[in-house]
Amino acid sequence: MTSPAQTHVLVDLQSVNKHYGPLHVLQNINLQVTKGEVVVVIGPSGSGKSTLCRAINRLETIDDGDIFIDGKKIPAEGKELARMRADVGMVFQSFNLFAHKNILENVTLGPIKVRGVAKPEAEKDAMALLERVGVGKQANKLPAQLSGGQQQRVAIARALAMKPKVMLFDEPTSALDPEMIQEVLDVMIGLAKDGMTMIVVTHEMGFARRAADRVVFMADGQIVEEATPEQFFTNPQSTRAKDFLSKLITN
Ligand SMILES: Nc1ncnc2c1ncn2[C@@H]1O[C@H](COP(=O)(O)OP(=O)(O)OP(=O)(O)O)[C@@H](O)[C@H]1O
Ligand SMILES: [Mg+2]
Repeated sequence: MTSPAQTHVLVDLQSVNKHYGPLHVLQNINLQVTKGEVVVVIGPSGSGKSTLCRAINRLETIDDGDIFIDGKKIPAEGKELARMRADVGMVFQSFNLFAHKNILENVTLGPIKVRGVAKPEAEKDAMALLERVGVGKQANKLPAQLSGGQQQRVAIARALAMKPKVMLFDEPTSALDPEMIQEVLDVMIGLAKDGMTMIVVTHEMGFARRAADRVVFMADGQIVEEATPEQFFTNPQSTRAKDFLSKLITN
């Protein structure tokens, strides 16, 4: 039985197209992500995964088609756009923390400036989030004093501080030393278990198997295949996906 909560579409891409000059980087993308769903996007380098993420919070414009966040079409600019962006948390490969601000300030800045939260409340929320991602003790340090894995966990806390409806992750562990990858994935697995709606671009197939409700496979700007992780990894349908997976296994 489907309850309204299960069919609540939070991210809705309808016939989205984008070109970079002659390159048709997003080709008629249709993707619906429902509340609480974890979608892992995988595919070869250059297939358009980052462009897709960037389009969803309008760091990139699209040529045609529509993108809706929680039923609202992404506005072109202005206050409405800022508000909508706050609903879409984003974590990149590089942590992008403010180098001259301490960890606590990094997390409170957005809520204070964009959401208009009072400083004491923002700090209380931020401390709870920093504890949740396991870096509470680092609150007064500068980013450079933290390991890469700790910085990425702060970046996750910073995104969560805006109380987003959906979190986008674009290869959040790709820049990390191997021993730090799992601590970041563990935070993401925790988020997924807590019901966060997530779109995750990653090469971490273990994460996909454990946390994804759905795998979306992209190649050459198209969604070539969508399946449960179980179906996708054990029985990929397309030649492109079979080829991609066979290379992953032999590497
Ligand atoms: N600003 C840009 N101008 C022109 N071409 C771009 C731009 N950004 C990306 N591209 C091209 O668009 C294609 C898709 O890029 P994108 O970064 O979305 O791929 P990706 O799937 O994220 O790849 P990767 O796995 O390497 O991160 C690539 O061919 C890339 O060279
Ligand atoms: Mg990318």
